[in-house]
Amino acid sequence: MRTIDWVDGAIEIIDQTALPGELRILRLHTVPELIAAIQSLAVRGAPALGVAGAFGVALAARVHADDPAALTVAVKKVETARPTAVNLARGVRRAAARIGYGPEAVLAEAYAVRDEEIVASQAMAARGADLLVGLCGDRPRLLTHCNTGGLAAVELGTALGVLYELHRRGALAGVVASETRPLLQGARLTSWELSRWGIEHRVAVDSAGPFLMARGEVDGVVLGADRICANGDVINKIGTYSHALGARRAGLPFVVVAPESTVDVSTPHGAAVEIEDRGSAEVTPWAEAVNPAFDVTPRDLVTAIVTDRRVIRLDRGERP
Ligand code: MRU
Repeated sequence: MRTIDWVDGAIEIIDQTALPGELRILRLHTVPELIAAIQSLAVRGAPALGVAGAFGVALAARVHADDPAALTVAVKKVETARPTAVNLARGVRRAAARIGYGPEAVLAEAYAVRDEEIVASQAMAARGADLLVGLCGDRPRLLTHCNTGGLAAVELGTALGVLYELHRRGALAGVVASETRPLLQGARLTSWELSRWGIEHRVAVDSAGPFLMARGEVDGVVLGADRICANGDVINKIGTYSHALGARRAGLPFVVVAPESTVDVSTPHGAAVEIEDRGSAEVTPWAEAVNPAFDVTPRDLVTAIVTDRRVIRLDRGERP
């Protein structure tokens, strides 16, 4: 099952706000419906956002076929629906570059974005599994953060695809999924996907991660990214930085798995990235809260980045 696809002239998504309670499919017929789905995180995760952006342009190109000004406005709205994951703007721009050739050409490009993410997931799974066994030993116990499975990437996923591949090889001794406050992508979505794959796991509150590492219950950390900067800084779900600090203190490998579509060498470093703030209400009704949805993990805390084409050993001075 794909988390996002184009079906009979509309975008179909698995509504990630309803999981794990209900597996609900949403059909999105208009750009405002798509933008609402992106902003509510009904569709989320960097690679899936790239596909959503490309299909969003396909939708806009049909609806506004005779109104170029309205099409330009609609495309811009999709592109800026969320600011941090580079995949969204990138998917939009790829599809928008085909507008001059007509709506069918735009849709063909969107299909290409989708298909490339599917192939990329498979490549990352194999390469990442090899690397983790090399770094952490034969049957590692691994901690992951947020959700990086098929839900976030069309099919299979990035870091979660690596866990699946290790499990398939009989080379995975345990998984800790951090719950990922405030929207619980780990407790709700990662746990749901791991259960469907038959992978035993435990959910931990976010703040437990570094302590579990210190207590020797984890052999390494593997997670995804929303943007990888030219200098190797990694932007990912809030809580990634504290897990990286915990891994460094415990002397554990910290591995980021993300497709090339997430590598953005036009962004020099993490401080240059707009970090989405999702507002107070998501965190607590009882006080004013600060709610950055992502953080910046400096390159020197990252052991390696696995993409669909390469392994970048930041610990050996390599750069994206
Ligand atoms: O706010 P979200 O749920 O879209 O954030 C997602 C993440 O931070 C993921 O870790 C990242 O996109 C990698 S998904 C393969």
